[in-house]
Amino acid sequence: MTTIDFESLTPNKPLRIEVDGRAVCVARIGEEVFAIGDTCSHSDASLAEGDISGYKIECWLHGAEFDLRTGEAVTPPATSPVPIFSVERDGNTVTITSAE
Ligand code: FES
Repeated sequence: MTTIDFESLTPNKPLRIEVDGRAVCVARIGEEVFAIGDTCSHSDASLAEGDISGYKIECWLHGAEFDLRTGEAVTPPATSPVPIFSVERDGNTVTITSAE
């Protein structure tokens, strides 16, 4: 489990953090926060270095897109999902927990 300040998150600017030793990509879209596994399922690239559009994040390396809400790979070349993490917000405190 990891907590971060909501106000420290810039909308549409992903952030790489660690949760229980795992790399996680955190994304704020408006007032919502999403957290998915940071490593692209296609190869070894950090999704937090990619660009957000709508509810999707695009891997900077080969352009695969993942749905931030579900972790699904929605655009090739990635075909496997990335894990999603539980996000709870209480005021300015955002708690991210491994789903396992
Ligand atoms: S490493 Fe992400 S699309 Fe290839």
